[in-house]
Amino acid sequence: MVETIHPAGSLEGVIRLPGDKSISHRYAMLASLAEGVSTIHNYSSGADCRSTLVAMGSLGVRIEAAGAALRIHGAGLDGLKAPETRFDAGNSGSTIRMLSGILAAQPFTSTLEGDESLSRRPMGRIIAPLTAMGARIDAREGKFPPLTIHGGRLQAIDYTLPVASAQVKSCVLFAGLFCEGSTTVRESVATRDHSEIALREFGAQVETLRGAVTVAGRPRLAARELSVPGDLSSSAFFLVAALLRPGSRILIEGVGLNPTRSALMDFLAQGGAPIRVVNIGQASGEVVGDIQIESARWRGGLLEKSLTAALIDEIPVLAVLGAASREGLLVRDAAELRVKETDRIATVAENLRRMGVQIEVHPDGFAVPGNQKFQAATLDSFGDHRIAMAFSVAALAAGGPCEIQNAEAASVSFPEFYAMLRALAV
Ligand code: S3P
Repeated sequence: MVETIHPAGSLEGVIRLPGDKSISHRYAMLASLAEGVSTIHNYSSGADCRSTLVAMGSLGVRIEAAGAALRIHGAGLDGLKAPETRFDAGNSGSTIRMLSGILAAQPFTSTLEGDESLSRRPMGRIIAPLTAMGARIDAREGKFPPLTIHGGRLQAIDYTLPVASAQVKSCVLFAGLFCEGSTTVRESVATRDHSEIALREFGAQVETLRGAVTVAGRPRLAARELSVPGDLSSSAFFLVAALLRPGSRILIEGVGLNPTRSALMDFLAQGGAPIRVVNIGQASGEVVGDIQIESARWRGGLLEKSLTAALIDEIPVLAVLGAASREGLLVRDAAELRVKETDRIATVAENLRRMGVQIEVHPDGFAVPGNQKFQAATLDSFGDHRIAMAFSVAALAAGGPCEIQNAEAASVSFPEFYAMLRALAV
């Protein structure tokens, strides 16, 4: 599908976003392992989170719509059934990696596969700890999907993450639920802690101490009624769009502001963005609030070390902002971008260059000088949802209409994106 995006004047309005993708996956998986019926409000509408629901369904978990909410009839820790077919995780790294932790502990064999992009993403990072716990996993050469997981009894582990990854941390913690004794995951760079929060909400015992997260094995998880906050990563596209278009003013209500994700607000504010977070509250252990933003010329900034990890999903759209900023954007320590849904260093560079924007590419990041203009161009998502949305935002500031090829990729996390963007553009 091709979307044509016209240059916009200002963006104005009040919006609410679909549920956070990361939190939705975790609620669906843990509700499936709980005893009783959980109700989940504002579950992500994206295809990735649907892949998780379909997978849980094929493990025998009954999932039904209840108005706008979902009701998940938990099977209990030992109640999952062997699937009749292979799991299709689609484009979803979270589904394949986190679900593998659960499947590794089941008394049956299962096979997980995904689309072309997922089939190129590294799985050695979950195969190593799950194998150390006692699972046997076959993968395509190079440790890529499809994965065949010969599940069985697992042993608790004390594991230090070699790469900063919340998906891997969650995979090991979920596997640890099925073990006797406690499982610990240690991280030197903090990653999003939605699993820790969700595990506690469902009744598991989780302790966090100086970068070590420990979950006690064999908990009784209890069904809950939960509401997923709006997706902070989806909000980033509108925040950058509002900054870029003079005269813009938007309010985004009910956004998840978990401190392991919300460094984005500080980063934008440090560069002079008029951004305010109001109505701060809590929902099921997660911080939630409303974000107000107005247009302004952003100064630019440096992303490195733990800040890079905290903003990893927002980097494509920040690259767009960087080009229009006064001093530009420098990104370091971001080699992980190369193994996301696309090689995001390459796909960001390709689209910026098509718009006549200069970028210097490094093995683990890039430098985008400031004060650049976006020329109208034919752009491509390359099948990556965040690239589709980041360059739709760039197109709003272009010298003429831009085409986004393979624009449907946005629906992986945010099917409503183009409609909401059009509704805000004046
Ligand atoms: C996610 C963690 C991040 C992020 C992804 C979602 C999660 O991946 O990029 O979009 O829900 O845990 P890694 O954990 O692989 O860095």
